[in-house]
Amino acid sequence: MALDWFPLVRPVLHALDAETAHRLTLRALASGLVPRPPQLDDPVLHTSLFGYRLPNPIGIAAGFDKMAEAWQALFGLGFGFVEVGGVTPLPQVGNPRPRLFRLPEDHAVINRMGFNNEGLAGLSRRLPPSRPPEQLVGINLAANGDSADPAQDFLTLTEALAPRAGFLTIDISCPNTANGKMFLEPGPLDQLLARVRQIVPVGSGGPAILAKSGPDVEPARLQEIVEVVLTHRLDGMIVCNTTVERPTTLVSRHREERGGLSGRPLFGPSTRMLGAVRRQAGDRLTLIGVGGVASGADAYAKIRAGASAVQLYTALVYHGPYLIHRIQQDLAQRLRADGYLSVAEAVGSGVAEVVG
Ligand SMILES: Cc1cc2nc3c(=O)[nH]c(=O)nc-3n(C[C@H](O)[C@H](O)[C@H](O)COP(=O)(O)O)c2cc1C
Repeated sequence: MALDWFPLVRPVLHALDAETAHRLTLRALASGLVPRPPQLDDPVLHTSLFGYRLPNPIGIAAGFDKMAEAWQALFGLGFGFVEVGGVTPLPQVGNPRPRLFRLPEDHAVINRMGFNNEGLAGLSRRLPPSRPPEQLVGINLAANGDSADPAQDFLTLTEALAPRAGFLTIDISCPNTANGKMFLEPGPLDQLLARVRQIVPVGSGGPAILAKSGPDVEPARLQEIVEVVLTHRLDGMIVCNTTVERPTTLVSRHREERGGLSGRPLFGPSTRMLGAVRRQAGDRLTLIGVGGVASGADAYAKIRAGASAVQLYTALVYHGPYLIHRIQQDLAQRLRADGYLSVAEAVGSGVAEVVG
């Protein structure tokens, strides 16, 4: 296998402020300067998601490439699917910097970006006018922080971006803006999803419609949210977003920064939440598991808890792009060792073991 150069580059990147390092990484990716890690094409990893055939079930989570600057390069790194965004209708600057912090000893990140993005026009410029037929590109949607009508923001985005996306994610769980959380209430969520379904009716050939929840909800509230999602026959859910909780195990200097925590400490809570959603929804929803995935074992645990595919972001900060290949290899081995011929066969096989 070619040499994994990331351990050489990481000290340089990590000497920079986290957001600057991220901007540089995106630029390097977009300009084709990042050498491609080895590619794995293993039939046991082939799977289908929302009608797309994927070479593997590992995707890049929302927030990494908010403005679709590097979505093609991300496929080139080996991701099986890509989610871009979050995008808001109008451009917004987000919160004051610094707003992104590495927690190296905890293999975690805290962010309070506040949906910095160039808005619908900025994103639309960088995506083809119709969804690529061979590649699953999802778009993560959010309301503007100062919007008087956040529901309308989601509808504007849905209408404008439906032709371009393989799936649209209604992010109801951003911990960093007031508008990001109001649809965690079942009433407003019900009204919103009814209107989204008018724009993209079930079976209309439009993009899959997903909701993305956060981990900081009580179990009873989560059940209500899943009920509403099922009522409107959404295609799936992404479980889950970052947490405002701070586990007592955190040791890094920045552990008290405000914002959403992602990475290793999120693995347990997000996987328990995934299991709970799977137990409630069974196979009526296609679930994408995200939160702290950094190994083949983590990806496999998410799949066994009910995820048809997984996503990651924070682990890339610590392990670099070769990680994708390592996860694929390890996941393929684990599937075979347990006698599975495909990812789909393993989905939900361990849900009874997930306590939570
Ligand atoms: C810097 C940063 C920005 C993010 N922005 C978004 C976003 O715009 N929309 C969203 O739904 N999730 C966003 N997320 C959350 C991720 O998509 C993912 O749910 C979370 O980081 C957990 O996965 P991880 O532990 O693999 O990072 C962001 C995460 C980070 C670290």
